[in-house]
Amino acid sequence: MALSAAEKKQRVAAAALEFVRDGMILGVGTGSTVNALIEQLGPWRTRLRGAVSSSEASSERLRALGIPLHDLNSLDGLDLYIDGADEANPARELIKGGGAALTREKIVAAAASRFICIVDDSKLVKVLGRFPLPVEVIPMARSLVARQLRALGGRPVWREGTTTDNGNHILDVHDLQITDAKSLELRINQWPGVVTVGLFAERPADVLLVASDQGIEQR
Ligand code: 5RP
Repeated sequence: MALSAAEKKQRVAAAALEFVRDGMILGVGTGSTVNALIEQLGPWRTRLRGAVSSSEASSERLRALGIPLHDLNSLDGLDLYIDGADEANPARELIKGGGAALTREKIVAAAASRFICIVDDSKLVKVLGRFPLPVEVIPMARSLVARQLRALGGRPVWREGTTTDNGNHILDVHDLQITDAKSLELRINQWPGVVTVGLFAERPADVLLVASDQGIEQR
């Protein structure tokens, strides 16, 4: 049976809920797949202690459901973070940031003992880079960072009109073939003006749930 993209998102979100436990404070990502998760959190409203959100957009949806939001600074850590991705490779390394929430997503993922990534099979690649790599930059450093990205062989495009929740800009880097995601993440991260690169390789997903027409596969 051929499933629509929306059906795959609903099913993979439902599969992720199997990992949620009573009394948890849940880390919640951003994007349309996570929106499918939030839509299914209604019955969990009184069972969760609350959530830590990775974006203003997800916070708004969680508040509308009546789920208490917590400041990460008031917690020692999180048991579980659930988020989508733009691309995933066989090592569960990810490209994220299509929704411009990469910085807070990386923070919440770093705070979580377990990171479950939920995608449909269109997001699977052997080598990361088909999806343009988002890089969040301090606005005054945009051109400087773009020149450095060009020197790496990429083709950065300013996501004009987008300001992140942190008040910054996004460069989307096309034409990269990312064979060593960890070293590229570390390299770009240390350039002045870079806030976050949307590679999640130093802290990849612990579990990748993939929705396809055949069902849900856990990797
Ligand atoms: C937002 C993200 C999202 O997880 C990513 O863009 C996937 O979104 P969607 O579930 O809508 O395909 O990284 O910054």
